[in-house]
Amino acid sequence: MSYETDLVAKAESRSAAFGIIGLGYVGLPLAVELASAGYRVVGFDISGDVVSAVGTGKSHVKDVSSDVLAPLVQSGRIEATREMGRLGEVDAISICVPTPLSKTKDPDISYVMAAVQAVAQAVRSGQAIILESTTYPGSTRELLVPRLRARGFRIGEDVFVAFSPERVDPGNTEWHTRNTPKVIGGATPACQRVVTALYEPVFDTLVPVSSPEAAELVKLLENTFRSVNIGLVNEMAIVCDKLGVDVWEVIEAAATKPFGFMKFSPGPGLGGHCIPVDPHYLAWKMRGLDYRTRFIEVASEVNSEMPAFWVRKVAEQLNEDAKSVRGSKVLVIGIAYKKDVDDVRESPALDIVRLLQQQGADVSYHDPHVPELNEDGVKLRSVSLSAKAVAAADCVVIATDHSSLDYRMIRGEARRLVDTRNALNRKIGP
Ligand SMILES: NC(=O)c1ccc[n+]([C@@H]2O[C@H](COP(=O)([O-])OP(=O)(O)OC[C@H]3O[C@@H](n4cnc5c(N)ncnc54)[C@H](O)[C@@H]3O)[C@@H](O)[C@H]2O)c1
Repeated sequence: MSYETDLVAKAESRSAAFGIIGLGYVGLPLAVELASAGYRVVGFDISGDVVSAVGTGKSHVKDVSSDVLAPLVQSGRIEATREMGRLGEVDAISICVPTPLSKTKDPDISYVMAAVQAVAQAVRSGQAIILESTTYPGSTRELLVPRLRARGFRIGEDVFVAFSPERVDPGNTEWHTRNTPKVIGGATPACQRVVTALYEPVFDTLVPVSSPEAAELVKLLENTFRSVNIGLVNEMAIVCDKLGVDVWEVIEAAATKPFGFMKFSPGPGLGGHCIPVDPHYLAWKMRGLDYRTRFIEVASEVNSEMPAFWVRKVAEQLNEDAKSVRGSKVLVIGIAYKKDVDDVRESPALDIVRLLQQQGADVSYHDPHVPELNEDGVKLRSVSLSAKAVAAADCVVIATDHSSLDYRMIRGEARRLVDTRNALNRKIGP
């Protein structure tokens, strides 16, 4: 039997074992879906804390409930380990490690390289390796394939390689790992057949594309699309502010057009691990090919100006009471990068806090999902959101519109308010 036939048969009988490298926001939900579909899953992570939490059935990822994880761990469907040498035990490996930016906004592929290195050391014939981390076009063929070939393996015959971008949207209760269509780009037709067979029982819809490069670009197009459109509405917020027009009224009215318009909302800037980061992977790749991706640059410029725009709004509000930013008490509500998540990575609220502190404000924050902050020099603990705390602030800034907050109380008690998300009007009306 060929390795291809063997793997497809193991997928059909669910007797294949899966390895997940990186048990974070992406890897842990994927592990749960694979196990729920009937596969045995071994999670590999370099963090001892993550491995011991998952090993005892405790989820550290908000979208994965411990009630779902624990039975899968207890029944042996999911285990977690730091022993990368065990990668040779499994039939398929999904790589879900971080792909951040360096200080100079260039791709930091060190985590992917470490994972690829671990795979290259343990790989054996008959394995499928799927890269899920968002990365620049060409990564799968340039970073992964040569290391497998160097071990003497033939791609599409001995081992099978694909890029399949993870599209998870943390906090989204409607679209999750299983029902979000899964794009797969195999390095060869046999690779495509094997990975399609492996993922078929796990995802409701599979979307095959012709190559890993196409799959890599799908993910970058999606996130660049968001970044550019958010940049456009953020610029519109600045334009409307200068013209004295309510940007949200304009957007809501434009959104009534039944065709040709898609609604995006302005806010404090971009946050999270994807939208502010991923387009730079594409921009970096294109610089190497002597092409400047202008939309990406302009969107990034506008989006990263937004925290300063909102801090100017705070200064204007304080000015109404003849106060300066220096010495004023400012309460920032919501620190996570978007509503109902606990992730503060790249959160624009952190920039707002930092800018206010630099200007001498006495800043406190409340976030029901982030009890304490220790990020890039910002070290604070969440204060309770009492009417007294809101009334005591010279200005309140709504940076993230978490669902559970008492917006009526906030509006009633705040002396001055800057609402970067239009949360008050949306939730309780004008
Ligand atoms: N978070 C999202 O919303 C999201 C959505 C879609 C795609 N992605 C992409 O998925 C990838 C993973 O992102 P994430 O948010 O899950 O990251 P994360 O930081 O939540 O998790 C990554 C995990 O990988 C582990 N790790 C790092 N290096 C490792 C190594 N060499 N071997 C084993 N484990 C290692 C870390 O300890 C961590 O637990 C990134 O490329 C990201 O761009 C993320």
